[in-house]
Formats: sequence, C-alpha cells, structure tokens
Amino acid sequence: MKRIVSAAAALCLMAGMTACGSPARTSAAAQTTAPAPDDEPKEETTAGSHILVAYFSLANEQYEVGVIEKGNTQIVAELIAEATGADTFKIESTEEYPTTYDGLLEVSRQEENDPPQIAGTVENMDGYDTIFLGYPIWWGDLPTIVKVFLQSYDFTGKTIVPFCTHAGSGLSGTPGTIEDICPDASMGEGLAIRGSTAQNDRDSAAQSVESWLADGGYIN
Ligand SMILES: Cc1cc2nc3c(=O)[nH]c(=O)nc-3n(C[C@H](O)[C@H](O)[C@H](O)COP(=O)(O)O)c2cc1C
Repeated sequence: MKRIVSAAAALCLMAGMTACGSPARTSAAAQTTAPAPDDEPKEETTAGSHILVAYFSLANEQYEVGVIEKGNTQIVAELIAEATGADTFKIESTEEYPTTYDGLLEVSRQEENDPPQIAGTVENMDGYDTIFLGYPIWWGDLPTIVKVFLQSYDFTGKTIVPFCTHAGSGLSGTPGTIEDICPDASMGEGLAIRGSTAQNDRDSAAQSVESWLADGGYIN
C-alpha cells in the first residue's frame, strides 16, 4: 500500500489487533444471520442535479464511537447532499463487511490483495460535473473499495472533491492518491472531519461542512 501511518499502527495496538482471527466474508446473497448493510437504496437522484455525493461508510463497530447505526462518513455525506441538493450513491461491496472493528482491520488488509466488487453502478455518471467523494481513512489511505470505484468510471473533465472521516490522520494525503488514479480530473479542496465529531457532535460537523461548501463556492 502507498502509506501506512503511525496513527493506523496505534489504532491497531489500541484495538488489540494482534489477537485478530481471520473473519470469513459472506456474500450478501448468502448471508442469513446478519442483516444486509442497510435497506437504503444505493442511489438517490433529483432531476437536474449535476452534483453527486458518492461515499463509502460502514456502521456497526467503529473506532472511538462504539456500535453505531449510521456510519460517520455517511453522516457527513448526507449533510453535503442536503446543503447542495446533490444526488447520492453509496459505495457498497457485494460481500458483507465484518461487524466488529477487529474484523474490519483484518478484512481491510485482505482487500488490498483481493479487491472487493462494488454492488450497483452510478446511473448517468456523464451527467455529473462535480463528484464529492467521501470515505473513512483506512491505514492512512483510501479504502481499497474507493480505489475500485475511482477505477470504474471516466472522471475526465470532472471535479472530484474529497471528504473523509478519520481518527486523527486527517486527509492523510488521499487527495494525491485520487489524483494519481484520476489524472484527468480536477481536484477540489478536501475536508476532513473526525469520525467521533460526525457521530456525536453533528452541529459542529454541519458547521464545518457549510463553511467548507461556501468557501468552495458550492453554496452561497
Ligand atoms: C480498517 C480501519 C483502518 C483505519 N485506519 C485509520 C487511520 O489510519 N487513521 C485514522 O485516523 N483513522 C483510521 N481508522 C478510523 C476511521 O477512519 C474512522 O473511524 C472513520 O470515521 C470511520 O468512518 P465510517 O463509519 O464512515 O466507516 C480506521 C478504521 C478502520 C476500520
């Protein structure tokens, strides 16, 4: 992987990762005991919108926030969509992710050598000129599934505006990684919000989102 930051190593130590097992992954179709990731549609569209908020985000057990019903990045994605009137697309794998933090640490590593497949596609990507791309920082980098998403479409001439949630790393150089994957796209200024702030202090997160959107000229 491009970068493994010390914050990620610290996270593993804090999580007691040395004792991790090997969580088996189950296809969404074959899963019988755990619920599907959620019942929400992957894509929500509004007639005439030229802005898309595409994001990857997981609920269940997450660092610093415990077991959550809605992922930290999804909360920020929804704030952006609400403020801009953008369409949304939730990036999801065809396979279930583990519901424990330790399990996620292990599967995220496995995915680097065995990339996941994305369930569903963005209809009419050609119709969007601005794509807000949201993700959690994983190991100081983009989650592999977000790289797969970027490799799945032609972003030539579009503007990609990155935003992330994290546990201390900030954007951690991910805009540069996006540029490497999509050299023909323009990059907007990124936003990093701590996951625990998105989850537990939504007013503060909303303020950060609104001033960032205003600074970028996406809202008045
Ligand atoms: C596999 C994994 C690796 C992570 N690596 C980092 C990291 O390197 N730096 C960091 O600040 N946070 C790291 N985190 C914490 C997440 O970025 C943070 O909890 C995020 O808000 C989760 O967002 P989500 O609920 O939208 O998935 C990691 C979390 C996981 C599950």
